[in-house]
Amino acid sequence: STMIAYILFTVLAILPLFIYLRNPYVLGDLRYTVTVIRIGIRMSKMKKNFSSLLDCFLDRVEKHPEKTFLIFEESSYTYSQADRESNKVARALSMHAQLKEGDTVAVFLGNEPHFVWLWLGLAKLGCVAALLNSNIRSKSLVHCFSCCEAKVLIAGVDLQGAVEEVLPALREQGIRVFILSDRSDVEGIESLSDKIEWTCDEPLSPELRANVSLKTPAVYIYTSGTTGLPKAAVVNHERVWMSAFLLTIIGVHSSDVLYLYLPLYHSSGFLMGLCGAIERGITVVLRQKFSASNFWNDCRKHNVTVIQYIGEIMRYLCNTPKKDNEKDHKVRLALGNGIRPDTWVDFLQRFGNVRICECYGATESNIGFINDVGKVGAVGREHLLYKMSCPYALIRYDTEKEEPVRNSRGFCIEVPKGKGETGLLVGKIGQRTPFYGYAKNKQQTEKKKLRDVFVQGDLYFNSGDLLRIDEEGFVYFQDRIGDTFRWKGENVATTEVTDHLLTVDFIEEANVYGVKVPGHEGRIGMAALKLKENTDFDGAAVYEHVKNFLPSYARPHFLRIQDAVAVTGTYKQLKAKLAEEGFDPTVIQDPLFFLENGKGYVPMTQEILAAITEGTLKL
Ligand SMILES: *[C@@H]1O[C@H](CO)[C@@H](O)[C@H](O)[C@H]1NC(C)=O
Ligand SMILES: *[C@@H]1O[C@H](CO)[C@@H](O)[C@H](O)[C@H]1NC(C)=O
Repeated sequence: STMIAYILFTVLAILPLFIYLRNPYVLGDLRYTVTVIRIGIRMSKMKKNFSSLLDCFLDRVEKHPEKTFLIFEESSYTYSQADRESNKVARALSMHAQLKEGDTVAVFLGNEPHFVWLWLGLAKLGCVAALLNSNIRSKSLVHCFSCCEAKVLIAGVDLQGAVEEVLPALREQGIRVFILSDRSDVEGIESLSDKIEWTCDEPLSPELRANVSLKTPAVYIYTSGTTGLPKAAVVNHERVWMSAFLLTIIGVHSSDVLYLYLPLYHSSGFLMGLCGAIERGITVVLRQKFSASNFWNDCRKHNVTVIQYIGEIMRYLCNTPKKDNEKDHKVRLALGNGIRPDTWVDFLQRFGNVRICECYGATESNIGFINDVGKVGAVGREHLLYKMSCPYALIRYDTEKEEPVRNSRGFCIEVPKGKGETGLLVGKIGQRTPFYGYAKNKQQTEKKKLRDVFVQGDLYFNSGDLLRIDEEGFVYFQDRIGDTFRWKGENVATTEVTDHLLTVDFIEEANVYGVKVPGHEGRIGMAALKLKENTDFDGAAVYEHVKNFLPSYARPHFLRIQDAVAVTGTYKQLKAKLAEEGFDPTVIQDPLFFLENGKGYVPMTQEILAAITEGTLKL
């Protein structure tokens, strides 16, 4: 019998090797499966006995109060200090803004420790934070309040100008405005820093947030989505947990250090980064924004082991001049989205053995993928377990008509499995895979829903993204449909840019679209304009306007003056055609202008085109 035991033992020992040789991803798959099952068990426990990510933070504070939680510039804060800072914020806001459970507060702030204290403080009061994009201005800024019903705004001192610009509109809506400074001379703006300073840092009673549950909103995150003004995606506590677990899934453990420079008002920085770090109880190195020249020095200085990225960032890093010590760092994991395959290969060659985990998802989406095995180019991998719990499908899509193809019985058609055919990703909306939509925006919420997909009465979330899946189950992102394009990692809603251009007095019609630029991810903004009769194009006036009202990534970098802009019927096809024609002055007969950095719109020339193509002119 010892013989049999011995043989059995040998077979068991060798078996994994055989499986491994046949399927090189088996270990990764196994790790993924075990992790996902463990997360599933944790979530089901939480359904019975709710705890929020804030409770998780408080557990960490108790467990390792002296561990460094946040490093920002020259300062560093332990878990315990962060806890006390946020107690002060919560107490000050409770006293001076009379906040209570269920209230929504708009946070208008760049990346800095106060962002984190504010959010934790609000959570301690059972309040919901609406995380405003710190680049937005004017009409879009005001709009953000109506969709989340925030009655209080807290802004960074560097954003006071933007707040003053819309102050009359805010006061009309009865919104109280606080600024993170010690004093304010402006009527209608109250100072907050002094009030925080003078408050005690004693813990707050959990009774204050007794009604918070998995299904109540935790934060609102704004997406410019596919059309019009920003929409507030409702992110409830369950969703916060699910996103925070992403770091666990890719194998981040408690001794890791996360480098966080992505904006905290987006889901990748906030949910995956900050919330994920709290779930793991790790140290976060926070930066106001990305800097290519400081990136690796920061990583070395703080022993960073995990970084987040967007595709553009990885390319910037690869474009920096080569140095001898490039592989001298401790970064072992990179989590992000949008890296091009050539950059991916380049990055590994230059910066060494970093496991790049490319993922796919959207703030409001009920489906996501992650490629945790490092397959170059893929945004994820199909897993049976995941597909069983979150049913999704790729369906045939008609790009001309811009709608899914339906068969004679009126149902959608799934693309053949494992053939690599491109299809529209849809995710079944159900109890485990809910779609909460956008706050106070039924119309846009309905627009993302697709009915009668495979059977009468079923309901799916329409991702608006075209993907394909190869025979090994790897998922590849192909294209995004609709009225949005991406530039520098931000979504640009063409309709919003159009609205702004139309307020310039001599512009009659505007058609905004994104064009591809050699060597860049995404598309850069371009607009075809029709001028009002008997007016001349005034580049300085357009520049002044876009500079004041649009963040730099959304500004049209090229303008094309046309005699007529078709706006009906074939509108979208026309956009596609214009985008294809691009900005080559030898091809396009219409007058063309280029937005020169800091100068304004200048006539487009062959020299500018050459400089852009060669990469000597930075966009
Ligand atoms: C919790 O909800 C109940 C019922 O909706 C309400 O009566 C109670 O005041 C709430 N508690 C707090 C702390 O807001
Ligand atoms: C980084 O790691 C090295 C060696 O492992 C250690 O000596 C150093 O103190 C660490 N630095 C920080 C900031 O933790």
